[in-house]
Amino acid sequence: MNFMKGKTMEIRVEKGRPEKFSCELLLLFAFEPPEPLEAPLQSVDLEWKGFVSTLTKQGDFKGELFECRLLHTQGALPAQRVLLTGLGKKGEFDLEKWRGAASKAGQFIRNSGIKQFAFPIKSFEGHSEAELAESFVSGLLLGVYQFNEFKTLERDKIKEIGEVILLGEKANEIKLIGDGLRTGQTISDAVYLARDLVNGPSNQVTPTFLAEKAKQIAKDHGMEIQVLEVGQAEALGMGAFVAVAKGSQEPGKFIVLEYNKGKGLDTIALVGKGITFDSGGISIKPSENMERMKDDMSGAAAVLATLQAASRLNLPFHLVGIMPATENLPSGKAYKPGDILKTLSGQTVEVISTDAEGRLILSDALTYSLRYQPKAIIDLATLTGACVIALGDFVIGLFGNDDALLKRIEEASSKTGEKAWRFPLWDEYFEYLKSDAADFRNVGTRAAGAIIGGIFLRKFVEKIPWVHLDIAGPASIDKERPYIPKGGTGAGVRLLIQLLRDWK
Ligand code: BES
Ligand code: ZN
Ligand code: ZN
Repeated sequence: MNFMKGKTMEIRVEKGRPEKFSCELLLLFAFEPPEPLEAPLQSVDLEWKGFVSTLTKQGDFKGELFECRLLHTQGALPAQRVLLTGLGKKGEFDLEKWRGAASKAGQFIRNSGIKQFAFPIKSFEGHSEAELAESFVSGLLLGVYQFNEFKTLERDKIKEIGEVILLGEKANEIKLIGDGLRTGQTISDAVYLARDLVNGPSNQVTPTFLAEKAKQIAKDHGMEIQVLEVGQAEALGMGAFVAVAKGSQEPGKFIVLEYNKGKGLDTIALVGKGITFDSGGISIKPSENMERMKDDMSGAAAVLATLQAASRLNLPFHLVGIMPATENLPSGKAYKPGDILKTLSGQTVEVISTDAEGRLILSDALTYSLRYQPKAIIDLATLTGACVIALGDFVIGLFGNDDALLKRIEEASSKTGEKAWRFPLWDEYFEYLKSDAADFRNVGTRAAGAIIGGIFLRKFVEKIPWVHLDIAGPASIDKERPYIPKGGTGAGVRLLIQLLRDWK
């Protein structure tokens, strides 16, 4: 069960000035010329007899975005080395670029085999020390993430940074840096948890494993947990969840994790698709790339991670995390195309494809969430290949029935850099789901595939404000982005945490 270890890097805050601080490496940032050097770099430059300004004047360091230049100080400074990292054009700077720069610098330092570095934080470009520290730490930690748990050979070649020291000057600045550091760490911890669960293979990350992980989080954070077995789900009437679960030897688990900060707080239901492996079932998928379908529990992983972070950040909410978890496999016991299922809502569904299993397990989970009378329901799911075709692998498909809630998500999205794009859910789309035999079918034609997934789910949320995030694209990627290595990404985690932090 325990292939997930905590991160090893230690990050702390110290009072000190960069030009006086002794360390293996001092990290400093610069914009493209003609911008003057930022304050910490200026004082280092002064102490170093104009070495850095000469370098930039000569054009040997251009300050281009993510450019990294390693310099040896040869005793001119207490720091052994300086790493200059470019921030690009000053007018184009934002925290997303800042996270990227922190990551790129961190990867450079790690890959150089350097174990320790210091970095002075001083407010600039209208961003406080707390904001800069939080985004720096997030970008750094997210960027140096590696999943090596199952590698047994040449483990000594794995490089890791051991220690990072954030330097502040005045007491209030040091306090702000400390606050930002802790928030950044908590959020990154959550993203690490989600990534580990997604990267973990499906023979390890089974529904039982997810349930155990949820129990551990509940225990560590004083949350309520309830894990329904398939038999109990059946007794409750969850015909859709049970149908998907019954084809597998691995027992399905319907996981309900509850975080409650106090009485009278807003209840929000977070629902995550937890298919630990999606073979397609009887409507089996082509074998090419099928190994990727271990990431089909990314929604559940994001929900689990968000609850952990919400608790550690003491966010004032009652959050209900609902994670239906099961494999989707073909077998003599599997559900079949043509089967008619009775969902927990009472509505019946004709199964056309057993590969459209996500919407089935989510339908029962959404109905289940109604018993908590939530102010809002947000579901996350690697729901449709069509969404990836429409938006690419770096964008979340955004659907919902409530403009205000959608706007909140869009706002959080613009802050965290997790791009999300809205699709319509017009009533006309229901036409595609008409069934001769049941209330509706589980797939339409090929048209509007991502929307049809959303319109199906909408049948189960009644009038409650609801948003559906299709994370099929960004949940795991095969080409790295500035602070997202390839593999499981933890998509949706930072977005949800930001949404909750800004809720009021
Ligand atoms: N888990 C898949 C969706 C998916 C596809 C995620 C590619 C990530 C990458 C989902 O269960 C599925 O198979 N959906 C079908 C729906 C179709 C049968 C209507 C799909 O997208 O093909
Ligand atoms: Zn499927
Ligand atoms: Zn699936």
